[in-house]
Amino acid sequence: MRMRKKKNGEERIKACADYLIGDASDASLSKMLPAELEIGCGKGRFICEKAKNNPNVNYIAVEVMTDALITALESASKDNIPNLKFINVNAKELETYFKKGDISVIYLNFSDPWHKARHYKRRLTYKAFLEVYKNILSSDGKICFKTDNRPLFDFSVEQLRENGFRVCDLTYDLHNSPFNEGNIMTEYEIKATQKEIPINSLTAYLK
Ligand SMILES: C[S@@+](CC[C@H](N)C(=O)[O-])C[C@H]1O[C@@H](n2cnc3c(N)ncnc32)[C@H](O)[C@@H]1O
Repeated sequence: MRMRKKKNGEERIKACADYLIGDASDASLSKMLPAELEIGCGKGRFICEKAKNNPNVNYIAVEVMTDALITALESASKDNIPNLKFINVNAKELETYFKKGDISVIYLNFSDPWHKARHYKRRLTYKAFLEVYKNILSSDGKICFKTDNRPLFDFSVEQLRENGFRVCDLTYDLHNSPFNEGNIMTEYEIKATQKEIPINSLTAYLK
């Protein structure tokens, strides 16, 4: 996601501090657990809608890019969503925040495809990330993954199957499938849909 640097970033983050979990010792973290987790939330459309629609579930969204996170934080703050918080961190650090069983669902929405062969280890469905997810998910936990990028999708199916997950509810055209009921569109999903690109989607359970 290419973004221009936001003006007054630090002040804007401070103004939404109630929505930000600082580090792993932040007292507001334990109050949010167990939770559902979105990794790479971008500007936060999906997770804000999800949290508003399900006020009895706690949600945490992770985003490494501070400028995208500012937009997400401001949306949550404007809509006054009490069951949602954000962490500004790389997903590879998640085990410092969560222990086994803390997370029931992980949402990976339109994760960066990292086209170049030398960058494949940065994909959020690469086996090293799947190991992190296994260490924070509950035993009946699941990963919900959707993307418009078919090569990334195929790579992810392979990684999941080879690394301890059972892949279910797989579709290459989410919006014309039975799994679309209750689907919340992300910013990237809206753009892909406008271009008539089909959305691939799956749910993966721990074996
Ligand atoms: C292509 S954007 C999709 C944003 C949003 N999920 C959507 O569907 O509109 C991918 C997002 O994942 C974030 N991201 C990529 N790698 C990450 C990582 N290792 N940890 C946390 N966030 C990451 C990027 O900064 C970017 O905002």
